[in-house]
Amino acid sequence: MDFQARLEALTHQLRPWAPLWSRSILQGWPESGAAYPKEWLAYARSLDDPGERRLDRGELVGEPPPSLAALLDALEELTALPWHQGRHALTVTQTQGLSAKKAHELEQVLALLAPRTRSIRLAVDIGGGMGHLSRLCSRTFGWTFHSIDRDAALQDKGRRWLTRTHSAHGDTLCFIQASVEDSLQPQVDPLFSGRDRASIGLHTCGPLALTQLRKSQGAGFILNIGCCYDKLEVPRDHPVSRFGSAHPLPFTPHALALTTRGRQHKTDEEFARMKRVYAWRFSFHLLARQLFPERGFVRAGDSPRARYAGSFADYALDRLERLGLHSNMTNAQLDAFEVSVRAETRDLLLCHLLRDRFARALEVVLLLDRALLMEELGFQVELLQLFEPSLSPRNLALVASRGD
Ligand SMILES: C[S@@+](CC[C@H](N)C(=O)[O-])C[C@H]1O[C@@H](n2cnc3c(N)ncnc32)[C@H](O)[C@@H]1O
Repeated sequence: MDFQARLEALTHQLRPWAPLWSRSILQGWPESGAAYPKEWLAYARSLDDPGERRLDRGELVGEPPPSLAALLDALEELTALPWHQGRHALTVTQTQGLSAKKAHELEQVLALLAPRTRSIRLAVDIGGGMGHLSRLCSRTFGWTFHSIDRDAALQDKGRRWLTRTHSAHGDTLCFIQASVEDSLQPQVDPLFSGRDRASIGLHTCGPLALTQLRKSQGAGFILNIGCCYDKLEVPRDHPVSRFGSAHPLPFTPHALALTTRGRQHKTDEEFARMKRVYAWRFSFHLLARQLFPERGFVRAGDSPRARYAGSFADYALDRLERLGLHSNMTNAQLDAFEVSVRAETRDLLLCHLLRDRFARALEVVLLLDRALLMEELGFQVELLQLFEPSLSPRNLALVASRGD
């Protein structure tokens, strides 16, 4: 794939819409809403619930405004990445105790590694957690494996798992408890080097992905799957490639948070729940702004799921109490307030559904920039979709090899 052409085309599409994707809708409301083209909002308002669901999946029903249809078509084309084909089926014993998500990820990663790592004998897993991937790789491929994580408790669980599942051929897996940093680390750095060495990071949070890529310049093979892009800091962590630096986008913490927006394909129930959570949060925001304007943006925070299933009044009273605020409003008045702002909270929802259309494109921009960094360092690079998004939404794999 021509990563440069793809990044250039994506940034060209995204740049004009930066006022939409780079800012928080709620924190800047109502000015933030004014950034959305009037015809986009009019179209979104015309949708019924199934139409909103389709929009949430990136599909436009009826007669969408041409500018919106053209943008979504372009983003769909430019975010399309090849799928990794194949699955390494694990046995019932191997998947015992693993979640469906973890088992799926392991099957996909093993299948990706098998044909690409024939010259690999050693491997390191950065942020390896309980070491499931390391254990299965060392037993499947016979590699000597170091699983590094800063969380000692997770590693203890992993050691117990290793003993419990015991391999007849003995294990060549070693847990190392360390926090991997960008600085020189004589104890761990050599574990990332060598042409017969694979460096693997499965769901490396935020900047840990970049630490892995930078430390692995002497490795023969690298697999990185990132996550938690909201933990990145701009400009420290993006752009990282020369080409990306020449084609920058105004990433903000809000834009980075958007890239982590989870599930692309929600069930009916999940979509209905999301709408209710948004409705209560947005209504609470409007209430707090009216009652306590001097406090600026009041962060409602997360509530237990059951709270959103009850009345707005119950939700609002719980939030107010948690924040140490008092409204003197009765339950009936609070519920009536929610009804009175429904048109506005629906507009807030519709702006969110429209803004979410940028999430995948921004995630792909981050990954293209990393792919270009690795190309600039002399690697042959692939960017693949590896996991079913419904099981594991952060599903993009960066694969780099020296190929010589
Ligand atoms: C999202 S979890 C992924 C765990 C495992 N790779 C998996 O897929 O199940 C990220 C892991 O990275 C570890 N981690 C985060 N930053 C780290 C650092 N700087 N050094 C070592 N481990 C780190 C965390 O403790 C956590 O176990």
